Amino acid sequence: MAKLGVNVDHVATIRQARGGAEPDPVAAAAIAELAGADGITIHLREDRRHIQDRDLKLLRQTVKTRLNLEMAATDEMVAIALQTMPDMCTLVPEKRLELTTEGGLDVRCNMEPLKSAVDRLRGGGIPVSLFIDADPDQIKAADKVGADYIEIHTGIFAEATDWKSEDRELIRIENAVKLAQKLGIGVNAGHGLNYGNIKRMTTVRGIEEYNIGHSIISRAILVGLERAVRDMVELVRFA
Ligand code: PXP
Repeated sequence: MAKLGVNVDHVATIRQARGGAEPDPVAAAAIAELAGADGITIHLREDRRHIQDRDLKLLRQTVKTRLNLEMAATDEMVAIALQTMPDMCTLVPEKRLELTTEGGLDVRCNMEPLKSAVDRLRGGGIPVSLFIDADPDQIKAADKVGADYIEIHTGIFAEATDWKSEDRELIRIENAVKLAQKLGIGVNAGHGLNYGNIKRMTTVRGIEEYNIGHSIISRAILVGLERAVRDMVELVRFA
């Protein structure tokens, strides 16, 4: 049975819009766990645009399932990870101007720095996953640098506008899973998965965990809005 990791970055994005204390991603993570999430994912970005160092520290203390830290393979992030000891580190490419992670890591062209980051993290006892496209060469390179897991970038599948291209991408992902399994690497997947496309995605066997953020937080806003407005109406009308 596949697992669900809930990415709570967007909760921090809303908090940072006002620079205050709410909504708190730590509270959101606890609710996600109560609802059955198998893990919590956060991305501590170099520019700290959403998740803050404080969130990572508190989540390390409060998450009862598994804490997956997405991060760039920089010395600063490796040091933070070794200090806080998440249950897994997922190395992702990071560009300052991007809205969200765009595309997977180019492991083939960055073998040395990635191997160094993987070695330091694994040496400190943290399993490492590499966020990559469903590309056989990238998977072989991930194996060479010693990754425990890969997280397959599902963005192309999620953005497909017709069945044919969706099918083509599913086959590519299926083949990627098979290759990773042959090499003894665990497989997770994520990016752009939502309530409309997850059923088709789960037809691919062998993916251990799906990391989903945007669609879950978006839905939470809509399904929670009625209750939130009712609560405020009551306070305003019956004061
Ligand atoms: N996996 C990785 C590596 C990501 O960078 C992201 C986006 O933060 C996700 C999964 C989740 O993607 P989404 O927010 O589109 O569900």
